[in-house]
Amino acid sequence: MAPKNTFGVFLLFCLILLLLSVESRWTSLGTHEKYFSSLRRTKASIHNTILPDFEMRNYTQTLDHFNFGPNSYDTFLQRYAMNFKYWGGANTSSPIFVYIGDEEELFIDKFTTDFLVTNAPHFKSLLVFIEHRYYGESNPFGSMEEAYKNSSTLQYLSSEQALADCAQLITDLKKNLSAENSPVIVVGGSYGGMLAAWLRLKYPHITIGALASSAPILYFDDITPHNGYCSVVSRDFRESSESCYRTIKNSWHGIMKTATQYEGLTALSQMFNTCRPLTSVEELTNVLEHIYFVRAQYNDPSSNLVNELCEAIDKDSHEINPLRRIAYGVKAIHGFSRCLNVWSVEEMNEFDRLFGWRWQNIKEVLKDFGSNVIFSNGLRDPYSSGGVLQNISSTIVAVTTTKGIPSVSVCARMGA
Ligand SMILES: *[C@@H]1O[C@H](CO)[C@@H](O)[C@H](O)[C@H]1NC(C)=O
Ligand SMILES: *[C@@H]1O[C@H](CO)[C@@H](O)[C@H](O)[C@H]1NC(C)=O
Ligand SMILES: *[C@@H]1O[C@H](CO)[C@@H](O)[C@H](O)[C@H]1NC(C)=O
Ligand SMILES: *[C@@H]1O[C@H](CO)[C@@H](O)[C@H](O)[C@H]1NC(C)=O
Ligand SMILES: *[C@@H]1O[C@H](CO)[C@@H](O)[C@H](O)[C@H]1NC(C)=O
Repeated sequence: MAPKNTFGVFLLFCLILLLLSVESRWTSLGTHEKYFSSLRRTKASIHNTILPDFEMRNYTQTLDHFNFGPNSYDTFLQRYAMNFKYWGGANTSSPIFVYIGDEEELFIDKFTTDFLVTNAPHFKSLLVFIEHRYYGESNPFGSMEEAYKNSSTLQYLSSEQALADCAQLITDLKKNLSAENSPVIVVGGSYGGMLAAWLRLKYPHITIGALASSAPILYFDDITPHNGYCSVVSRDFRESSESCYRTIKNSWHGIMKTATQYEGLTALSQMFNTCRPLTSVEELTNVLEHIYFVRAQYNDPSSNLVNELCEAIDKDSHEINPLRRIAYGVKAIHGFSRCLNVWSVEEMNEFDRLFGWRWQNIKEVLKDFGSNVIFSNGLRDPYSSGGVLQNISSTIVAVTTTKGIPSVSVCARMGA
């Protein structure tokens, strides 16, 4: 069982990491940019090179859609990308597919665009990708430091404002293209998927359908169990290997016990090859849970991140000490020559302070997301633990894929 005392801080930290970070980037805490760079970006070694056929644009967006105070007339530049290659044009009322950006910089890379680019020729659709306010270049206050400084600057960061941004931009774009008759389908993943579904629900005149991929749109109130995230992570590991699951489950006790012994933290530091001596046992447990979480969250069939870790943990079948098995597994995937970075609670708070996602989390999204009941049981993609696996109605249908991530499609007209 994971330690409970730092859980509050830790959970928020995890959320940020889970959604935005990359496990293979343990190297340095020097810059936040480095730390928060996304998994896909690092994996592809692409530094957001824009794919051909896409053009980047800036839209002069309204800062505050819901008030009439002086500041509400302020504007900022919102970044979006367009691809006209497949579009049948306004005259034929060809559709517009809009990707709703989420809590990170907009990447016009294969990972983000593939699904829409693959489907665009068939539907002769225009492709539009919208960056979410406060992320990437669509920052109303120029820099992250400035934007996340205090509640005055942060007050315009909300999903309501982001939805209104999309509604306004899409409307304006259709007008410019004389494409009022072109139907709009919005698509998003994770938090962006939630936005897509909400856009369809809140602005039904703007979009005729939404595809919310891997989106925990039911993760509110008491609809889903509150330990959903961790139970899904646990099940991922259990499905990969029962012995790996048991080893991890049993390791927490060993870690806590070792930590209370004389020179215990030193022993743990050495065993896990931490970059600096541990000052508390939570520094280690936080990092380990983070590794398990990220591996489960990004465990698509091609990467098999959970299997990879479990194979390393299971490798030495003669080793009976779960702690040593874990240490070996972590070092094997991380690189035996590299040290394992650990963070203090103060350092985590500093990231939090600089990071908008926490603000949104606290304010509105996914307040009860997860718990530390790690390694019990659950679903597959942990982030979808509030996802939709069954059809809700004839127009709100669940689209599931094998070993995949559940999506929900909210359509006005099926087959449109
Ligand atoms: C959008 O605005 C930013 C900030 O002013 C600028 O750096 C960028 O070049 C602009 N992009 C385009 C496509 O005009
Ligand atoms: C679309 O229709 C308008 C008005 O009928 C016409 O002027 C224009 O040439 C058409 N555009 C294309 C690309 O066919
Ligand atoms: C936030 O910071 C700005 C600039 O330093 C300052 O003018 C403003 O009063 C601050 N607002 C709050 C609520 O602290
Ligand atoms: C629509 O055209 C106006 C005027 O050229 C321009 O300022 C605005 O950015 C355009 N909107 C979009 C969404 O491209
Ligand atoms: C939901 O309904 C659609 C359309 O009838 C069907 O294709 C799909 O398989 C259903 N999904 C589930 C999860 O039952």
